[in-house]
Amino acid sequence: YSLEKHNTFHLPVKTRWFMEYTNEEELGRIFRDEYFQECLSLHIGSGSNLLFINDFNGIILHSQIKGISVAEETDDSVLLRIGAAEKWDDVVAYAVSKGWGGIENLSNIPGEAGAAAIQNIGAYGTEIKDVVETVETYNRLSFEKRTFTNEECLYGYRDSFFKNEHNDPHIVTYINIRLSKKPRFSVNYGNLKEELAKYPEITLQAVRDAVISIRRQKLPDPDELGNAGSFFMNPVIPVARYEKLKEQYPDMPSYPAGEGKVKVPAGWLIEQCGFKGKSHGAVGVYEKQALVLVNLGEAKGHEIALVAESIRTAVHDRFGIEIMPEVKYVG
Ligand code: EPU
Repeated sequence: YSLEKHNTFHLPVKTRWFMEYTNEEELGRIFRDEYFQECLSLHIGSGSNLLFINDFNGIILHSQIKGISVAEETDDSVLLRIGAAEKWDDVVAYAVSKGWGGIENLSNIPGEAGAAAIQNIGAYGTEIKDVVETVETYNRLSFEKRTFTNEECLYGYRDSFFKNEHNDPHIVTYINIRLSKKPRFSVNYGNLKEELAKYPEITLQAVRDAVISIRRQKLPDPDELGNAGSFFMNPVIPVARYEKLKEQYPDMPSYPAGEGKVKVPAGWLIEQCGFKGKSHGAVGVYEKQALVLVNLGEAKGHEIALVAESIRTAVHDRFGIEIMPEVKYVG
């Protein structure tokens, strides 16, 4: 079964089996199957953060649990219960159309709701963890359902409890997010403020439109040019280390990242190393955002990994900073 449509790099890799389910009962049936228990398996969303190095010799699982419903409503807020397979941006569009605030900054991010909560997607000063109230899961080993509170999800920058390989038995089935009926806008990130100045008024729809417009200028559409968004995470380093580097590189940008730490944009580091807009075979470093690797045509997973490795090495040699892939390698 070809995974070409299930990974946004559009690598033509294959899997032995591909299985989808629409509810927890079906999931239970899959996990109780003896053959399944012996096989290698991997649960994916829409593959917008995956790099397949080779064909997958096992079972790929993909949720078809859909639906967006109001689980609770107060004067000030709504709690939305969302099936893991809902397209994340459909959720954002729906919330904005209803006048519910909290996720408008997370517009136009590829992927599905379940994976969004697992990866703690973030953009323009907002992360999904800011609105996640609970995450519902199904345990493939004990066949039990469990609801995790936000605290139990152990959220960090592009990180959560569910990203840890050891916590693999928990399959995310639904997420519950709390949105505000009295939106507070968060528009101070980078050029969002500038972009919003073009709109007569700051509304949820204006923020959504502005974010979409910025993203379209900087990030390639995976349907046109295979990619997985930011390939690396932005490294977090101690302020003292940053101050030292800044003596040598006065233009090095940074963002606050908790006490005594700053985040340095990996895109800047990569651009300084001369990779931006360059290509190696069919693997390109996107010309408008050096943090994004693109498949120019017939790239193979291992070729993308090789280019990523040479970028990592170059950044380390020049700045002494370790950058780690945000994209998950499979195989
Ligand atoms: N920069 C460069 N050259 C580049 C790219 C960036 O110099 O080629 C510098 C510029 O100084 C720029 C700064 O980096 O001002 C920040 O760039 P940008 O606002 O594009 O954000 P980013 O830090 O590169 C992060 C997220 C994105 C998210 C944006 C906006 C990570 C790994 N990436 O990128 O998320 O959309 O902020 O909030 O944290 C993703 O995770 O896939 C993703 C696209």
